[in-house]
Amino acid sequence: MPPRVRKAVFPVAGLGTRFLPATKSVPKEMLPVVDRPLVQYAVDEALEAGIEQLIFVTGRGKMAIEDHFDVAFELEATQTSRGKKLNALDGTRMKPGSCVFVRQQEPLGLGHAIWCAREIVGNEPFAIFLPDEFMVGAPGCMKQMVDAYDKIGGNLICALEVDPSETHSYGVIDPGARNGALTEVKGLVEKPAPGTAPSNLIVAGRYILQPDVMRILENQEAGAGGEIQLTDAMAQMIGSQAFHGVTFDGDRYDCGSKLGFAQANLALAMSMPDIGPALKDFARKLVC
Ligand code: UTP
Repeated sequence: MPPRVRKAVFPVAGLGTRFLPATKSVPKEMLPVVDRPLVQYAVDEALEAGIEQLIFVTGRGKMAIEDHFDVAFELEATQTSRGKKLNALDGTRMKPGSCVFVRQQEPLGLGHAIWCAREIVGNEPFAIFLPDEFMVGAPGCMKQMVDAYDKIGGNLICALEVDPSETHSYGVIDPGARNGALTEVKGLVEKPAPGTAPSNLIVAGRYILQPDVMRILENQEAGAGGEIQLTDAMAQMIGSQAFHGVTFDGDRYDCGSKLGFAQANLALAMSMPDIGPALKDFARKLVC
């Protein structure tokens, strides 16, 4: 059996410019889908998959993320003194020592953000979560990937089919043999020009990677958009290490975009027993 995936990196240092002005002083990863911040869903998914250490790569203006996973002493004391329950805070107070925060001093790209966590990741396989990709599944996306990893090891990326007109916004897989949910990855291209993508299978925001990727990122040049791209570093490992895409059985919302964020809120709220029925009535009236 391959070594267990115990650590996960959450890159949360991006500027979130597509959500300005909302993200001027609030981190994008703290925007709520109904009543929980995006980053909370990603952390829940990690814990479900057996991850023990959560490594957040943060930047200036992102302290709200650190506070979110801490004890809120005044809030808790006040609520308790009023006889109120604290269960709305379940899942936000992390086990002492389980969260580590490192800084990415400049937002030089996703690949650079991951590299900033190299000393804490050390020499073991690790997971990556992009919290603005909201994954809804049972079991969760990372649990599905860890189950696949326990069988085949190597490097795994979450793979999803999109409309061919959308591939230019994503990392795209050059696919090889397919076996159930697993697709061999023969190559990766970051944000291919329209009409040049090798497939419509994109890399969604979950990964399990071998630590060798850190050595490649160390010398990685800037790629698409002038940023140090994780996709470019992963592409260099293909051929020397096993690489597969795992097709996620569930729903994915790109909450880094306004449309995806609005869709996620609508879909989740409609599925909630307390507010779903009233919201559906309201939505029906809106579209008629
Ligand atoms: P995005 O490209 O979606 O985030 O990166 P962004 O750059 O913050 O967003 P826009 O395009 O300006 O609206 C995906 C994830 O990688 C992190 C982001 O915080 C997000 O969670 N990231 C991105 C970093 O941590 N550092 C970077 O330099 C870039």
